[in-house]
Amino acid sequence: MSATAPEQVAHRVGAESLRRVVFSEQEIAARVRTLGERIEAHYPDNEELMVLGLLKGSFIFMADLVRTIRRPLQLDFMVASSYGTGSVSSGEVRLLYDPDTSFRDQHLLIVEDIIDSGTTLRTLVPALRERGARSVEVCALLHKRLATLEPEVRWVGFDCPDEFVVGYGLDHAEDFRHLPFIGSL
Ligand code: IMP
Ligand code: MG
Repeated sequence: MSATAPEQVAHRVGAESLRRVVFSEQEIAARVRTLGERIEAHYPDNEELMVLGLLKGSFIFMADLVRTIRRPLQLDFMVASSYGTGSVSSGEVRLLYDPDTSFRDQHLLIVEDIIDSGTTLRTLVPALRERGARSVEVCALLHKRLATLEPEVRWVGFDCPDEFVVGYGLDHAEDFRHLPFIGSL
């Protein structure tokens, strides 16, 4: 699946804890371009698009994704936390930063790093729908396919194995976010 040798990964992160590369830098870049093209084609040219990234996990994905979308858009971020510092979902979603705008007349595209239990989006999407956006869609880089969301998210980068993955924005106890690829702990 990947061009990066495990020993090279171990060297670069200075940890024995990364088991393998799950999605390489090249695979991610190609997939992000495809997602950007599909998003660009989906929205009518003359209607406003607000791209809302869920921090911190989506920051690299968001930065790469918006640069592949060739149309006017606005962007903002929201901090919603369903995990503490561990790797097991706490089952509750806290909003730590909320831009608190109405999104009225805008198409709202939520950008998420990974869908695990689905708790974050199951809580957040209905709440954001209340704010009068023209449409609310989700683009998630990874989906573990453990959760069923209604409606299903429109754009998914990759189906992800049920492992704890890090890199490309995703962390474990705030570590590993800076890796250019996605690896498994
Ligand atoms: P959910 O609410 O259970 O779907 O989890 C969503 C959030 O949990 C994601 O936005 C991530 O921040 C975090 N998360 C879930 N699975 C992983 C993982 O495998 N690696 C890193 N973070 C994860
Ligand atoms: Mg997150």
